[in-house]
Amino acid sequence: MADKFYFEPYKIEQLQASYDVAIIGAGGAGLTAALQAVELGLKPVVFEKMERLGGNTNRASSGMNASETSVQLKHGVIDDFKDFYQETYVGGGKLNDPKLLEYFASHTSQAIAWLQEQGIRLDDLTITGAMSKPRTHRPASTAPIGAFMITNLLKQLQQKQVAIFNQTKVIELMMDDAKQKICGIKLEDADQKIHQVEVKAVILASGGFGASQELMNKYRPDLAHYKTTNHEGATGDGLALATALGAQLRDMDLIQIHPTVQQDNPHVYLIGEAVRGEGAILINQDAKRFVNELATRKIVSNAISALEQKSAYLIFGEEVFKRVQALAFYAHIGLVIQAQSISQLAKQINVDATKLENTLTTWNQAVDSNNDSQFGRTTGLRVIKQAPYYAIHIAPAIHYTMGGIHADQYTRVLDENGTPIAGLYAAGEVVGGLHGNNRIGGNSIAETVVFGRQAAIQVARYLQN
Ligand code: SIN
Repeated sequence: MADKFYFEPYKIEQLQASYDVAIIGAGGAGLTAALQAVELGLKPVVFEKMERLGGNTNRASSGMNASETSVQLKHGVIDDFKDFYQETYVGGGKLNDPKLLEYFASHTSQAIAWLQEQGIRLDDLTITGAMSKPRTHRPASTAPIGAFMITNLLKQLQQKQVAIFNQTKVIELMMDDAKQKICGIKLEDADQKIHQVEVKAVILASGGFGASQELMNKYRPDLAHYKTTNHEGATGDGLALATALGAQLRDMDLIQIHPTVQQDNPHVYLIGEAVRGEGAILINQDAKRFVNELATRKIVSNAISALEQKSAYLIFGEEVFKRVQALAFYAHIGLVIQAQSISQLAKQINVDATKLENTLTTWNQAVDSNNDSQFGRTTGLRVIKQAPYYAIHIAPAIHYTMGGIHADQYTRVLDENGTPIAGLYAAGEVVGGLHGNNRIGGNSIAETVVFGRQAAIQVARYLQN
């Protein structure tokens, strides 16, 4: 068995006086930007305020969306990035920034190929809500995408000796007043010692604010009582750093609620959308389906919130269990209820056995005839016939902040007049506008790679001039 990989973050004594570009945040966008930057001959440095590297990317489970990829062709999926654009646009309530979306949808295929060059192979496909065909790329083992990507990016960065500091919080971005461009940063180390570093550019990749009670109270007090899937560091620090330099924010009230989150214990667990993508259904306390489980997250979350219990059960059989590696982990930590018969499962989740049997019979017929006349579900059709049968109790929780910094498709951060702030770039969840009012599952990981790379490329261009 391969040795477990451990990335040793740099010690603060190794901090140098100057770098080309400081990348703030060591999640998917930040680490991608660092790798792309070093490939372009730049000297990047990454600062992460948390002890653990990876941010919310570590928690992403289902996969990375991309269209017109060679992986899709190998699976017989003929796609068109214009369809990907359109379905993301409709799924986002047609509120997506068209320029960001155009760049995104037309560069995911290159992103998959670039990852492959790094040895990060996503050879399997699944599907998420509101997509008409499988675009969600994931490892052949069906392992959760996030930790897989972070581990493999860190391996590459370690080989290339890129400086990555953890427990190091950037507290100020410095502008050269005469030249009106970024010239440095101030940071606080784990011992609260302040350091100043000279840099020519900054990439903000510090994530969203899904774990900030303060910002939730400010922008969406109606959601403030929801639990969150986010790691505790997702508090929107990058927004404050950028606005201190006059950056513009947008869409701050657009917050995504993920429909399937197990939250019966103090620790909240996201149950990845691939579970539905591979065939799970949702039932209410009356043992009946109540929604197209692969509609947008917004629709599915609203449908669950409208139930009297404000929660539901994911139901599936062994057919689905085998298709999502994360399920073995959820079962291992006690989140999955398991039974050898449908009636036993019904008893365990306290629903009527005959009604559950009827629901599954109707579902299996819909799958066999490829016609879900009840809810019009057309994707993720898989029968529930093989024991063991499984249930997971879920309810909606805050998951993703669609608003954030206003940046253009070149990842340049714009000020209140729409003018780029020289030397300041942003990528990933810290940026607003790409997803409209509803992010499609699997588009976040894709965004980190597409715009993480783009940020590094644009910094290289900026430094050439
Ligand atoms: C999920 O797998 O449902 C979470 C990842 C994402 O939000 O895209």
